[in-house]
Amino acid sequence: MLVFHDANYMKTNRIAAFCFVLGVEAQGINGTANDTLPSLFISPTADIAFALNVPSDSATDLYFSLMIPKSVTWGAIGLGSATMAGSLMLVVYSSDSSQNLTISPRIAYGHSEPVYTSDINVEALDGTGLKDGVRYVFNGRCTNCRSWNSGHVDVTSKSQSFLYATGPDGDIDSDDVRAPLKMHLNYGNFQLDMTHATSPGAVPVIPINNSTASVATTQGLSVSDKRDTAAMIHAIIMVFCFVGLFPFGVLILRLGNWVRWHAVNQGLALIGVIVGFGLGVHVSSFYNRSKSFSDPHQVIGILLFIFVICQFVLGFLHHRMFKKTQERTKLAPAHVWLGRIIIPVGVMNAFLGFRLAQSPQYYWILAGLVIFIFPVIALILLTKKLICKRWDRSKAAAGEQGGFDLEPWRQTEAQRGHGQQTAAPAGDYAPTQAAAQPDMRSYAHYQGSRDQRADLGSQPLPREYV
Ligand code: HEM
Ligand code: HEM
Ligand SMILES: *[C@@H]1O[C@H](CO)[C@@H](O)[C@H](O)[C@H]1NC(C)=O
Repeated sequence: MLVFHDANYMKTNRIAAFCFVLGVEAQGINGTANDTLPSLFISPTADIAFALNVPSDSATDLYFSLMIPKSVTWGAIGLGSATMAGSLMLVVYSSDSSQNLTISPRIAYGHSEPVYTSDINVEALDGTGLKDGVRYVFNGRCTNCRSWNSGHVDVTSKSQSFLYATGPDGDIDSDDVRAPLKMHLNYGNFQLDMTHATSPGAVPVIPINNSTASVATTQGLSVSDKRDTAAMIHAIIMVFCFVGLFPFGVLILRLGNWVRWHAVNQGLALIGVIVGFGLGVHVSSFYNRSKSFSDPHQVIGILLFIFVICQFVLGFLHHRMFKKTQERTKLAPAHVWLGRIIIPVGVMNAFLGFRLAQSPQYYWILAGLVIFIFPVIALILLTKKLICKRWDRSKAAAGEQGGFDLEPWRQTEAQRGHGQQTAAPAGDYAPTQAAAQPDMRSYAHYQGSRDQRADLGSQPLPREYV
């Protein structure tokens, strides 16, 4: 599954696809003027081509041809600027039928997904559609692309700035002009000689032969293989915390009553969640789908963030009160139950994150992690419980009391005292811990019988933790 998304594989694959299409090596760099060819731009990675005609018989129109390989999600040419902000972008992606392109004129306001504008009139002309099953072409005429509210193109300029960008591999397959875009993998800018592009109005043809190269354009900035790393790190940190660290912290607590290590582990996870949250908020501003913070993934994420902080404070306060009074506190059940809610909801929110990011292929990796990690933890705890039960029974038969405590804060003073005075049975590490860390009294064994904690409800089974 991952191999398909390997950057190098994808890059060579998409160039191969396009070179095959164009019959060229990627040689679209600094093309020289050629009177017989229209002004033409081919990106260095050969994943987008753009030809322009400035009709000499019109004061408003522009004709263009835009070509992308079928493999990419989207391609776009930005008019009027060397950076995103203010540029008018002609964005194309596969239509619902996947046999044609949807064109979406958008305006960018900065380093974020450009926003669809209905003010721009682009008409599809002959030759628009999927060609040979491997490349999409959009032949169009725009009747008002020479100036727009935040910019313009100068038809007399010999070096008018344009942008280009292509999304990662995949299919959008949508007729919706507001379809959500993933961030570009390859992007950059170029200057185009508008005077060379000027001739009687007609769709400029992108030639497909062995010598196709840029014409009357100069390559500027060129960036390739750049992903939305902030979103990636956000996802990795959050999944690591909610599927890895938090459940591991529960295991630490339940396996050996290592309260201090539980606190250290959950504290680390808290730091991870704070960093992940910051990245999530940062990434939210990139996309139209997330900038209003109204997606369920974001709403649940923000609530979880607040609860995770509450959870840490609860655990901390409980422990401090417990140390003072040596009695279970009212905060304990709140801490336990909030924790039992936070973990599964966090895991669910990771699925919603992949949904929001248009990356459902990662559902399977996430599901795999969940299906592996949670049963393993449940199994370890169940095994421990069974072993301890048998141990209890053999001790009871020998007239002794014994056992372990899944919820150490429920001890009474008497029980705790008793526990600490009991010599450590072989293979039992808890009293050793208590000795090593004298302030962590809660490590002590629970020595009471079932009825002593009848008021607390039945002992939860390990599988309740997941
Ligand atoms: C989902 C949509 C998009 C997002 C989230 C986005 C985001 C960004 C970000 C964050 C950068 C800065 C990268 C860096 O400096 O490390 C950037 C640069 C750039 N983007 Fe986009 N972009 C999007 C769509 C487009 C489109 C449609 C084009 C069109 C042609 C484009 C063209 C460029 C270019 C040329 C640059 C470099 C020049 C500059 O800094 O503005 N982008 N983009
Ligand atoms: C339990 C907490 C959270 C978890 C487990 C989580 C997990 C994820 C995951 C797995 C993705 C997919 C990323 C990708 O494939 O590129 C994602 C995307 C995203 N997350 Fe979160 N997230 C959480 C909280 C938040 C919060 C609090 C925010 C912001 C308020 C946020 C904002 C976003 C945004 C905007 C995206 C989409 C990025 C894109 O469209 O490419 N997340 N999240
Ligand atoms: C593609 O869509 C345009 C309208 O956007 C239409 O004019 C054209 O005929 C379509 N091409 C094919 C091959 O369906």
